[in-house]
Parts: sequence; structure tokens; C-alpha cells
Amino acid sequence: METVLSGIRSTGNLHLGNYFGALKNFIKMQDENKCFFFIADYHSLTTHPDPKMLHPNVKNVLTEYLAAGIDPEKATLYVQSDVPEVCELYLLLNMHAYLGELSKTASFKDKARKSPDNVNAGLLTYPTLMAADILIHNADKVPVGKDQEQHLEMTRKFARRFNNLYGTEFFKEPVAYNYGQELIKIPGLDGSGKMGKSEGNCIYLIDDDKTIEKKVKRALTDEGPKEFNSPKPDYIENLFTFLKVLSTPDVLAYYEDKWNKCEIRYGDLKKQLAEDIIKVVKPIRERINAIQNDEAYLHKVTTEGAAKAREHASKTLKEVRQIMGFKSF
Ligand code: TRP
Repeated sequence: METVLSGIRSTGNLHLGNYFGALKNFIKMQDENKCFFFIADYHSLTTHPDPKMLHPNVKNVLTEYLAAGIDPEKATLYVQSDVPEVCELYLLLNMHAYLGELSKTASFKDKARKSPDNVNAGLLTYPTLMAADILIHNADKVPVGKDQEQHLEMTRKFARRFNNLYGTEFFKEPVAYNYGQELIKIPGLDGSGKMGKSEGNCIYLIDDDKTIEKKVKRALTDEGPKEFNSPKPDYIENLFTFLKVLSTPDVLAYYEDKWNKCEIRYGDLKKQLAEDIIKVVKPIRERINAIQNDEAYLHKVTTEGAAKAREHASKTLKEVRQIMGFKSF
């Protein structure tokens, strides 16, 4: 059985991009694979170091994972900072990670540009921490969104480098995994290419129906195409991407046809889209509300998850230390 692993940074509530880009696949995978899913709270510190928000953010993501359908009986679900073995592997991997390659990473350059006052070493070594997350369980497959493909590429590089340096085949080279399809990227409704917290254009799993309707209504449109079969501008393409992901094929075909004939009515499209989004979000939101005050359940899930993850992780770490030449007296 193959090992699948993935994490989500706990920097706030999960949105539709997280759901379709990640969570929905996790739920399918947990039946067929040995799965490790975790909440990347260390990773959140690179940009979100507020101690008052750290725990609430972890709790939100945890309840949202569970509400979306991650089953802790099937998958190992844990909080990254509950597994200190990850930190040690991170340190060891950092000895063979180079400034040049780390500073060239797209996510690093992006964050450094956006927050020039907070270009910390954690940000720089984000890819080595992510590699440690993955390699500590020697995962075969990592379900990630498009924006994480480069990090995964670096994980393979670090794995290969370690193997070459120490003359071993110890680490596997993990591949991206999206349940047979190409990686899904949920766009923003504001015309931007991506739904993301920092873009401020998210529909959250905790949004109520009214909020969802309002957000969809505000989506960027125009006065419509002037010629038959026109190419779509990006912000309209985005709406169609939503239909592709969320609606039935006949709904999509209907609006494609309307677009091509210059008969599209964005009001109708948005109404349909809001309905289809609510169909997905509402049951999840209801489960979030049911779980979120069940402290005993959340405690049980995280302690059992951490124990399972640590058992596995400590085996890897022991072997890594041996390969690298650590010996006790
Ligand atoms: N970097 C990922 C993100 O921003 C989160 C993450 C951390 C992750 N460690 C990981 C994803 C390991 C997959 C595997 O979403």
C-alpha cells in the first residue's frame, strides 16, 4: 500500500480552494492508501506568528478537516508541532540545502516581495521543512495544489541529494497526486487567478448561505461578449472553472452555449453557482458547528494522531541518524 501525505498551513479558515484543491481528494484517498494528514502550524509561523491566533487557527483547520470528512480511524491526522521528529529532520536536511536554490523558490520570492520587512529564515527554509514533513514518513504521493509543485520538486531534489551523498536508496522521491486528474486550482471570483487568503477573495467552508450568495454576486463580470464564440477574458474563464468543478456537466454546457451565442446572463449564472457552492458548503458548515465545541473529541483525535505519527517518524529519524553517522557513546 502506498503512503500518501499532505498538510495544510493553519493560517485561518479553510476555503473552497483548499477544499477542491486538497481536502476533497484526501477524503477519497484515505480509503485506499496509508494516509498522513497534518496541520502545518510550524509553517504558519513564517507569516503568522501571533501567539493568540496560533491555537485557534489550528483548531479551526482541525475541525474543518474533520467536518469535511477526514476520518481519523482511517488516516493518521496530526498537528505538525506535536511531532518533534519533523524538526530534527528539518535541521539535518538544512545542512544540504543551499541558499541559491532556496532563495530562487517562487513562493519565497513572492513572500519576500510582499513583506520585505519579514524575510525570515523560516520563510527561506520553508521547502526544507516541507521536505521534512514528507520524508519523515517516506511518502510516495503528495496531493498538493499547483502552487506547491515546486516545493515537491525540491523535496525530490533533497531526497535524491541525501541518497547520493550517503550512498543509499533510503528516501523515496514523492510525486504529486491528484486522484488521476490534473491539479485543480480554484480561481478567485475577483478575476485573480487563485482563491487565497492573502488575496482576500475566499469563500470559506464556514460561510453561511447569505454570505456565499453575496460573494458570488460580487464576482467580476462585464457587459458580455459582442461576437459569437469569443474567447473568454480571464475573469469570465474563472466563473466557468467554478462551473466545471462545482456544477453538473449539463449546467456547464448550457452556459458555454449561452456564452457562445452572446446570450449569457451573468445574474442567472451567479445564482446557479451560489446554489451549487451552498450544496457543498452547507453540510460541512453544519458539521463544523457540531464538532467545534467537543474538546474531548478534538483532544482524542490529536493525541492519538500524534502518537501514530511519532511512532512512524521516529523509525525514519533513527535510520537517518544512522546513515549520517550519528553514534551514541
Ligand atoms: N506548503 C503547503 C501549503 O502551503 C502546506 C504543507 C506543509 C504541505 N508541509 C507539507 C503540503 C507537506 C504537503 C506536504 O499548502
